Amino acid sequence: MFKVVLVLVSLAARALAWDTVCAVKPLGGGQDDGPNINAAFEECSSNAAIILDGYYSVNTLLLAKGLSHVDIVLSGTVQYTPNIAYWSPNSLYLTYQNATTFWFLSGQYIHLYGGGTIDGNGQVWWDTFNTTGNSGTAGGSSTTFARPIPLTVGNASNVVVEDITEIGSPFWNNFVYQSTNVTYSRINISSVSYSSAPTANSDGWDIYRSSYVTIQDSTVNNDDDCVSFKPNSTNMVVQNMWCNGSHGISVGSLGQYAGETDIVANVFVNNVTMRNAENGARIKVFGGSPYANSTAGGGTGYVKNITFQNFYVYNVDNPMYLNQCYSTPAATCEEYPSTLSISDIHYINVTGTSSGEEGSVVVDLECSAECEDITATGTHLTAPNGTATYVCDKIATLDELDFNCTAPS
Ligand SMILES: *[C@@H]1O[C@H](CO)[C@@H](O)[C@H](O)[C@H]1NC(C)=O
Ligand SMILES: *[C@@H]1O[C@H](CO)[C@@H](O)[C@H](O)[C@H]1NC(C)=O
Ligand SMILES: *[C@@H]1O[C@H](CO)[C@@H](O)[C@H](O)[C@H]1NC(C)=O
Ligand SMILES: *[C@@H]1O[C@H](CO)[C@@H](O)[C@H](O)[C@H]1NC(C)=O
Ligand SMILES: *[C@@H]1O[C@H](CO)[C@@H](O)[C@H](O)[C@H]1NC(C)=O
Ligand SMILES: *[C@@H]1O[C@H](CO)[C@@H](O)[C@H](O)[C@H]1NC(C)=O
Ligand SMILES: *[C@@H]1O[C@H](CO)[C@@H](O)[C@H](O)[C@H]1NC(C)=O
Ligand SMILES: *[C@@H]1O[C@H](CO)[C@@H](O)[C@H](O)[C@H]1NC(C)=O
Ligand SMILES: *[C@@H]1O[C@H](CO)[C@@H](O)[C@H](O)[C@H]1NC(C)=O
Ligand SMILES: *[C@@H]1O[C@H](CO)[C@@H](O)[C@H](O)[C@H]1NC(C)=O
Ligand SMILES: *[C@@H]1O[C@H](CO)[C@@H](O)[C@H](O)[C@H]1NC(C)=O
Ligand SMILES: *[C@@H]1O[C@H](CO)[C@@H](O)[C@H](O)[C@H]1NC(C)=O
Repeated sequence: MFKVVLVLVSLAARALAWDTVCAVKPLGGGQDDGPNINAAFEECSSNAAIILDGYYSVNTLLLAKGLSHVDIVLSGTVQYTPNIAYWSPNSLYLTYQNATTFWFLSGQYIHLYGGGTIDGNGQVWWDTFNTTGNSGTAGGSSTTFARPIPLTVGNASNVVVEDITEIGSPFWNNFVYQSTNVTYSRINISSVSYSSAPTANSDGWDIYRSSYVTIQDSTVNNDDDCVSFKPNSTNMVVQNMWCNGSHGISVGSLGQYAGETDIVANVFVNNVTMRNAENGARIKVFGGSPYANSTAGGGTGYVKNITFQNFYVYNVDNPMYLNQCYSTPAATCEEYPSTLSISDIHYINVTGTSSGEEGSVVVDLECSAECEDITATGTHLTAPNGTATYVCDKIATLDELDFNCTAPS
């Protein structure tokens, strides 16, 4: 049936590169193109190209599993319908933080590119979230309101995503889930609300249980993390980024769940322009907990070998922020310091001005157990009002910082 709309081309030139080409014809008139796109993922799942060069309205979960050596050439637009009743129970539930997705892209040697757009139609989701306060759960007891992620690269390896614009994401824009060797280049993200309802959870990228992920040469306009390294993100590179309105480049939060081990290691972040943001370079780890069943701290693991280099901040509340007592009462951290260690963290050339939101404080590095081998060089930060101040607590290597710290008040 799909063959009517799915054109199988075998142009001589293309055959050199691909065995099969699936060009998906848009149905038009607001009809659901999802089934035909899924048919292309089946038909063209190996040594193939899938051409998406029109405007596609999608009202069906996109599931691309087991792709191998597939080019997805998106020069058109994939727009998800703002159909809360359909998507909430039918998007794919990914458990971690109740994340759910419109599109699960899985397999190996996948190249998604083409200059096109993925439109999450986020406005209706943000407006509804603003009104109901329902943070949404898919797969769980409530399937009435779950805000899906426009693109998840999941259970995948050797994936390249390039030259794509993402607008209006209801939730995180990109999720890298249980994957390795994934590179994103030249991605433009804009999650901007046009009503009085703010966007919500509009992270540029979240990485979870993944390794060897590179994010580069991209722009992000949003109001949550620009890039966030969640539990078990290792060997990450983030470079040449322009982030506006965000919560910064963030490690964590980690250590939320007692009995769980969270690792973030070998992260290199270089050349980031951070404007109008809550944070610049951020690490957040929960404090300890006396309770073995705690869901508000007490997790273990480590954050190690993280470099934040060449950050240019403008109007940023906390240009350098490290907290090992995140979302935890101070008294609890005093008695039960975090058992998730933080070490080998390097700030190189973090420059610019803070917003003044934290008064004169431009650096805030507070550990609950002692943090080892934290260094800062080339720090040139100013506060809008008067002399900048730097707050540190339980940092073992104060002499490796190029500013003088004061204790938290
Ligand atoms: C996920 O949903 C459950 C309800 O099913 C809720 O208890 C839990 O707090 C949610 N988790 C997050 C991280 O939002
Ligand atoms: C991802 O891989 C895990 C482990 O192999 C598997 O249990 C899970 O079902 C996969 N998820 C999807 C959506 O395919
Ligand atoms: C990573 O993926 C790219 C793109 O598919 C591939 O060219 C490269 O060989 C992969 N690297 C490794 C180490 O597998
Ligand atoms: C991303 O935005 C920049 C600057 O606005 C623009 O030059 C570039 O063409 C955009 N890239 C894509 C893939 O749309
Ligand atoms: C968002 O919530 C605020 C506060 O409840 C309300 O004043 C505003 O009208 C809401 N906006 C929308 C678009 O729902
Ligand atoms: C730094 O990143 C910006 C994009 O934000 C880019 O224009 C510039 O070329 C990069 N600088 C270097 C030295 O790569
Ligand atoms: C992270 O990796 C460690 C070591 O392999 C493992 O013990 C832990 O369960 C993982 N944590 C998560 C959240 O996947
Ligand atoms: C530290 O992280 C960087 C960036 O990922 C990596 O190149 C380097 O090998 C790591 N160092 C160690 C000792 O693992
Ligand atoms: C942990 O277990 C205790 C009883 O052992 C219970 O009182 C408490 O509510 C539980 N806490 C959580 C966060 O589940
Ligand atoms: C830090 O900034 C200085 C002065 O601009 C520059 O010479 C140096 O190369 C930068 N360091 C790195 C690692 O980029
Ligand atoms: C700077 O100080 C002036 C005068 O005390 C005050 O009115 C203003 O709000 C301050 N601005 C910031 C960004 O803290
Ligand atoms: C730190 O304080 C010492 C002693 O007061 C002073 O000599 C030094 O110049 C200060 N360093 C910086 C970077 O302000």
